[in-house]
Amino acid sequence: MTDYPVGLIESLRMARHIVVLTGAGVSAESGVPTFRDAQTGLWAQYRPEDLATPEAFQRDPGLVWAWYAWRRALVEGGKPNPGHFALVELERRVPRLTLITQNVDGLHQQAGSRAVIELHGNIRRTKCSRENLVIDEWVDTGEVPPRCPRCGGRLRPDVVWFGEALPPVALQIAIEASQACDLFFSIGTSALVEPAASLPHLALAQGAVVVEINPTVTPLTSAAMYVLPGPSGQVLPELIRAAWPDRADV
Ligand code: OAD
Repeated sequence: MTDYPVGLIESLRMARHIVVLTGAGVSAESGVPTFRDAQTGLWAQYRPEDLATPEAFQRDPGLVWAWYAWRRALVEGGKPNPGHFALVELERRVPRLTLITQNVDGLHQQAGSRAVIELHGNIRRTKCSRENLVIDEWVDTGEVPPRCPRCGGRLRPDVVWFGEALPPVALQIAIEASQACDLFFSIGTSALVEPAASLPHLALAQGAVVVEINPTVTPLTSAAMYVLPGPSGQVLPELIRAAWPDRADV
C-alpha cells in the first residue's frame, strides 16, 4: 500500500465538490486500448485522427462505420475495472462529485457512476448524420452504414469527431464545475486535446487542488499539486482506502 501525501488525504476528506476528468487511461485496465495506443490488425494502417473526422465519413462512410463497429466490439468486451468502481465509491463519500469523461465507452455508467458528463459522446449510441438525432433501431438492409428510418440519412456513431463542436450543455457543465470545485482529478488522460485539457487549469485558477493520476508525464504534470504516477485501477482504490480506512469495501 503506497503512502499518499497527508495533505492530499485531508483535501479529499474535506472536499465539498470534487471534479474528476477521465481519459482513455482509466479504461486501459479494462482492456480497451487508449486513444493513442497503436492500432492493431486491419486498423494498424490508419491513424485515429484520419478516421474520426467528418471528412473521412464523407469520403468513405463504410470504412468509418466499420472502424467504429470494431471499436464498439472492443468496448463491449471490456468490463469496468477497480478504478471505475473506486470513482463510484468516491461519489458516495463526498457531498458533490462531477464526473467528466472524454471516453466514449460507457464504462463509468456500467460501473454505477451517475450523471456522467460525456464530453466526446458515446460509441454505444448511434445517430442520424443528417438530423443529429439518436436512433435506437433501424432496418438492416445490409447497406453500410445503415440508413436513418426517419429521413434516409446515413447513420453514424454518436461521438465527437475532430473538428466538431462538443455537446454544448455537457461542456458548459464541465466548465462551471471546474470553476467551482475545491479538488480536481485528471485521471488517465494525455491532457492534449482541447477543450478538455483546459478544465484543470480553470480549477487551478480558482485555487482548487489539482491531482493527476497517470503513469506517464503529461503537459499538466508540472502544474498539478499532487502527481500519482501509477495505473488508476490500482491508485484509485488505494487512495479511497487511505482516505476512508473505516470502510475498506472498495
Ligand atoms: P490518450 O490515449 O491520448 O491518453 C491516454 C493516457 O492514459 C496517457 O497519458 C497514458 O499515459 C495514460 N494511461 C495509460 N494507461 C493508464 C492507466 N492504467 N491508468 C492511468 N492512466 C493510464 O487518451 P485521452 O487523453 O483520453 O477525442 O485522449 C483524449 C481525446 O483524444 C480522446 O477523447 C479523443 C482523442 O482525440 C476525440 O475523439 C474527440
